[in-house]
Amino acid sequence: MLTLKHITKKFKDKTALNDVSLELDPGIYGLLGPNGAGKSTLMNIITGNIRPTEGKVLWDGADIRELGGRFRSLIGYAPQQQGLYNSFSGRRFLSYMAALKGIPKKEVSSEIERVLSYVNLQEAADRAVGGYSGGMKQRILIAQAILGEPKLIVLDEPTAGLDPKERVRIREQIKELSGDKIILVSTHVVSDITPIAKEILLIRSGNVIDRDTVESLCRKYGESRDLEEVYMHIFGEEEHHAADSF
Ligand SMILES: Nc1ncnc2c1ncn2[C@@H]1O[C@H](COP(=O)(O)OP(=O)(O)O)[C@@H](O)[C@H]1O
Ligand SMILES: [Mg+2]
Repeated sequence: MLTLKHITKKFKDKTALNDVSLELDPGIYGLLGPNGAGKSTLMNIITGNIRPTEGKVLWDGADIRELGGRFRSLIGYAPQQQGLYNSFSGRRFLSYMAALKGIPKKEVSSEIERVLSYVNLQEAADRAVGGYSGGMKQRILIAQAILGEPKLIVLDEPTAGLDPKERVRIREQIKELSGDKIILVSTHVVSDITPIAKEILLIRSGNVIDRDTVESLCRKYGESRDLEEVYMHIFGEEEHHAADSF
């Protein structure tokens, strides 16, 4: 169980997260909101990469700051910024990540084969990551996130920049991960997450304004049958501005 207690994050005078409290049990959650809403900041705090200004994150009741290395081995994280080692082969990238995660040496090679086969990259595994397509890069990022079978998987916009076919493929791969894990996936594309999410967390300007099943959200906001309409109803204006700024 993952618990966020009164998480606030300020960057100088900018409040990126404003008193967010959440409890998540196993399942797939979609973190949905426009650019700048605070999705990446929230994910960086959950994974312990940045410290909140206020509040804490608990794993099964224990502060992740106190769990330290033990928490590291429980989580898998695919960041939004692709910090990929372009000259590395896929296999070498995974073995480097396995070492960083402290996966026991004896298990590394079988674990790498497991995650490669999971994301269907066995055949490309010895080619340089720099030559991969956008979809393949996202898949190798997911592969490193699931090394060591973490109980908490955090994927920051895993479908960004992908074509429709790849988006579906990534979505199906995330769906297969579920089981006893907590999986948090951020996106600003509604259809990437609605078919697989147990619940959607709506985030706007640093506030998690609601969390519920797709069905309930549709009922709550304007008796719409389609979360896309709900999203436009809530975020339409902001999405418009975000699009304008490109
Ligand atoms: N390192 C940082 N320094 C200053 N401001 C930041 C930093 N990271 C994020 N922000 C600001 O915090 C807000 C939330 O950003 P972010 O979490 O990246 O949103 P999202 O992932 O939903 O697009 C934005 O206004 C962004 O400009
Ligand atoms: Mg982001």
